[in-house]
Amino acid sequence: MRDGRDVLSSVVSSQIALHAPHGGVVPELAARAHLEAISTVVDAALRGLGGGWDDVDAVAVTRGPGLVGCLLVGVLYAQAAAQARALPLVGVSHLAGHVYSAWLADEALEPPFVALLVSGGHTESVLLREHGNAERLASTRDDAAGEAFDKVARLLGLGYPGGPAIQRAAAGGDASRFRLPRTHVPGGFSFSGLKTAVRYTIRDLGASALDGEGVPRDPEVVSALAASFQRSAVSQLVDGLEEAVERTDAGAVAVVGGVAANEALRAAVRQRFSGLSVVVPPLDLCTDNAAMIGAAGWQRLRLRGPDAPGFDADPSLAEFA
Ligand code: KG4
Ligand code: ZN
Repeated sequence: MRDGRDVLSSVVSSQIALHAPHGGVVPELAARAHLEAISTVVDAALRGLGGGWDDVDAVAVTRGPGLVGCLLVGVLYAQAAAQARALPLVGVSHLAGHVYSAWLADEALEPPFVALLVSGGHTESVLLREHGNAERLASTRDDAAGEAFDKVARLLGLGYPGGPAIQRAAAGGDASRFRLPRTHVPGGFSFSGLKTAVRYTIRDLGASALDGEGVPRDPEVVSALAASFQRSAVSQLVDGLEEAVERTDAGAVAVVGGVAANEALRAAVRQRFSGLSVVVPPLDLCTDNAAMIGAAGWQRLRLRGPDAPGFDADPSLAEFA
């Protein structure tokens, strides 16, 4: 990154192919794969700079939240690199990274803005009041939105990761064929009831409609359920964002995190908040990436200075800026 907002080089190594056969992330495999990939990924990113490490002024690394084995790989690697080169180092919250992906995506966006943060592990609305100062306005009582997409995809035999698979199956599906609940939790979100409703709807189709894995045999049924689930999930998310925005005087909203890659959600947010400035980052800034960590880290370094060497990874870190 240069000056917080200018991405000079961005490299992402995906583990989707590694985890797909298991239907979800296997923590031990994930940590090992991080260890195997990290040098290659950092070297590839540095190739985008003329002078490699000599051009680097500071290092930012994800400190949490997440799987501890994966976080440790990054934190220890970054600490070693920073120490070897006598560079300042900042430990950044993954969630702050997602919030800052919006700031990165739109040059005109400055706080205060409200971000709907929807990923595999998190569903929250967050107010970034000013740089370095954020407040969580609402969060999920149970499953995260992305988790719900992943679980429902499994029920429908659509594979991992579930979000893109549901989106594909939902295209052309009849969203009104099956009635699923439109959950509304004032001041929060909830997805487990919706997921359970999908499960019961499938069960009620009867054994003859299901294959050996309990998945509906009829692809039109799968599409209809995917469409209905997606509609219900999106409507809850957009309502929740609206409720959050009403509690603030922010003139801008953003949708960030892996689930922000969802076309139906992107369209619904643009439509509902047409009176505000709406930022929906491009897909490669929605799903996990290091550019957003660089942006959040740049602000953090500017405002608070470097972190003391030897800080720990924090699997349950809940910081939004
Ligand atoms: O932010 P992210 O890349 O990783 C976490 O920090 O969790 O988000 C991953 C989540 C997964 O649950 C995935 O199914 C979901 O984002 N996702 C989507 C779409 N693309 C990814 N959900 C809905 N529609 C999509 N197109
Ligand atoms: Zn994420």
